[in-house]
Amino acid sequence: MTSFIPKDLTTPVLHHLLLSAVAPRPIAFASTISAKAEPNLSPFSFFNVFSANPPILVFSPALRGTDGTKKDTLHNIEAVNEVVINVVNHSIVHQMSLSSTAYPKGTNEFDKSGLTMLASDTVKPFRVAEAPVQFECKVNEIKPLGTGPGAGNLVICEVLKIHIHNAVLNKDNTINQDALDLVSRAGGSYYNRAKSGFFEIPKPLSRLGIGVDAMPSHIKNSTVLTGNDLGMLANVEALPHKDAVDSFINDLSKRCPEVAKASLTEKHKAAQKYLSRGEVQSAWKLLLS
Ligand SMILES: Cc1cc2nc3c(=O)[nH]c(=O)nc-3n(C[C@H](O)[C@H](O)[C@H](O)COP(=O)(O)O)c2cc1C
Repeated sequence: MTSFIPKDLTTPVLHHLLLSAVAPRPIAFASTISAKAEPNLSPFSFFNVFSANPPILVFSPALRGTDGTKKDTLHNIEAVNEVVINVVNHSIVHQMSLSSTAYPKGTNEFDKSGLTMLASDTVKPFRVAEAPVQFECKVNEIKPLGTGPGAGNLVICEVLKIHIHNAVLNKDNTINQDALDLVSRAGGSYYNRAKSGFFEIPKPLSRLGIGVDAMPSHIKNSTVLTGNDLGMLANVEALPHKDAVDSFINDLSKRCPEVAKASLTEKHKAAQKYLSRGEVQSAWKLLLS
């Protein structure tokens, strides 16, 4: 057995040990709003339910590991003490991951991740329409746990209203766990799909991904590409240059001459296959051809 004393470790090393050992963790997809009414959406896996009476959820936006500053979510909650906590299922996992990109303050991550803002009934922040369960909450207390980089801030939230998609409800209004298809976060780039186990999503770019809002409209409005496909495509820093697209298509045409006559739908289906193998650049080149 190897033993460690926390104070002998750097925060990144300690962070890795804690987050790999306490896993998988559920993900609060937290929607907040700034004092200037700018929407914000970010995931937090320091999250759980702590009470049913009153109904209490707690999550923790830490001070940034780089410079100890507060994340936008924390700033927003300090200004407007309301939050919608959306749960994350497998069909929005790539969009959720993209939304964790450190976009500049004031950026609307709903637009960046291509998720739909749905007005709430009791609070100002928007719900994520695609999330299967959405908790409208008021924030009862924010409890800082320290002052340095990586220090957590417990955000103690009381649930005011719960919205559940009918597709995940049984006839007796219990939740169908299989249909819910939750994902959770483990160490490093690992996630866990409750039904089928671990999978990986590379961390979003530290240089900012272009976002779904910057994608050509035939791609973002595709009837073939899923939200996860869009989330993967939007996590590139720039679109491939025309030369790279042309040379990719020339090579491909030699192997598959039918590519020259492919319809938009056929191209989208082929791009989806590239994405399923993690070949994002090839998918982009095909889509832009
Ligand atoms: C799945 C996932 C879980 C995360 N959990 C946390 C967390 O519990 N606490 C935290 O401070 N950051 C967490 N992050 C990182 C934040 O989402 C990220 O710093 C984000 O940019 C914060 O956005 P904001 O500045 O708009 O609040 C997580 C990221 C991902 C992808």
